[in-house]
Amino acid sequence: MGSNKKTVIATAGPSLALIKYWGKNSLATSEKQSSDRKLHNNNIPATTSIAITLDTLTSSVTIRYSKSSKDYFSLNNQEVDFVKVSFLQKQLQQITQLHHPYLKSLDFSKIEVHAKNNFPTAAGLASSSSGYAALSHALAAFYNTDLSSQELSILARSGSGSACRSVFEGFTVWYKNSQYAEPLAPITHWKDFRVIVVAPYSEKKNISSRDAMNTTASSSPYYKSWCEYNNGLVPDAIKAILEKDIEKIGHLTRLSYSAMHAAALATCPPILYFKPASILLIDFAATLRKQGIPIWETMDAGPQVKFITLEPYTQQIQTQLQDAFSEHFSNLWIRVCRAGKGSHIIDTM
Ligand code: PMV
Repeated sequence: MGSNKKTVIATAGPSLALIKYWGKNSLATSEKQSSDRKLHNNNIPATTSIAITLDTLTSSVTIRYSKSSKDYFSLNNQEVDFVKVSFLQKQLQQITQLHHPYLKSLDFSKIEVHAKNNFPTAAGLASSSSGYAALSHALAAFYNTDLSSQELSILARSGSGSACRSVFEGFTVWYKNSQYAEPLAPITHWKDFRVIVVAPYSEKKNISSRDAMNTTASSSPYYKSWCEYNNGLVPDAIKAILEKDIEKIGHLTRLSYSAMHAAALATCPPILYFKPASILLIDFAATLRKQGIPIWETMDAGPQVKFITLEPYTQQIQTQLQDAFSEHFSNLWIRVCRAGKGSHIIDTM
C-alpha cells in the first residue's frame, strides 16, 4: 500500500512541435468502457503533430508525502492551485485499475509537489509539455505503478496534450485521435539538428492554448481546412526527418505554424500571439535564408520564436541575432538546444 519512497524527483524537456497540434476531438462514442471515457476523451488531437523533445530547457518535479494535513503545490517556489495534480492522481488510479488490476489502490495521503522550470513559464515555450510529463512520471514512480511509456504518455496527455510527446526522447509523432505519442527517431538520429529558442518576452501569455484552440475550433472559418492541411503535411515531414533533410523539414515547419496562426487569427475576437519582436525575428530568419543559411522559424501559443537549423550555423546565427536585436531588446533570452531525453526519474530517496 502506497510508496515506501519518501521523495521522487523527475525531469522532462519541452516538446517543440514542428508540425502542430491545434484542435481537439472527442473519441467515437462506440468506445466500450464508459468508466474510462473521461480519461480517454481528454485532449484528443484533431491534428497529427510531429515534435522534438529539447535538452537544455528542463522542468523538474519533486514529490513527497506532506508533513502537514494539507496537499501543497508550488511552481517556481510559489504556492499554486492543486487541482490538476489531484486530477492526474485520479487518472493514474484509473489507468492502474484498468491495466494493472493486481496493484492495490493508491495511497492518496497528502503530498507536497514542487515544480520548477529553468526557463520562462507559460510564456509560449512549451513549459506545460515538460511540466506535465515530469509530473506524470514523478506521480507514477511515487506510487510505484510501473507504467509503460505508452501509459505514461496517456497520463501526461491528460494534463496537457503536448506533454504526451515529452515522455519520449528525440523526434516524436502524435497521431490525430491517438491517446498517446510515439517515438519517431532517437536523439542519436540527427546529431547536428539544433533549435535556437529566442524569447524577447517573458510575461505569461494572455490566452491559454486550450482556450485558444477551442475558440479556433468553434469560430474560425478556416478550422476544418487547417486540420486537413496540417494532416496533409505529415507524411513528407516524417520522411524529411528520417532522411535528415533540413530544407524540407524547415519548409514544412513554416507551413504548419503559419497555417495554425492564420486559423487562430481568423477567430472572433482574433487570437493574435505575434508581437513586434516576433515579426522582426521572422524577417531576420528570411534575411539569413537569402544568404544561404539554413534557418526556419516556428511559433506556438506565445510571441517567442524558435529557429531550427544545423550545428555549424548556430554561432553565426547567435552573433547576428545579438547584432540585430541587442540594442532594442536588451532582455533577449536565447538558448541553443539539441534533441533531448524523454521524461525520466533523476532521484528517489
Ligand atoms: O498541449 P498544449 O495545450 O500545451 O498545446 C500545445 C499547442 C502548441 O504548442 C501550439 C502546438 C504543439 O503541438 O505543441
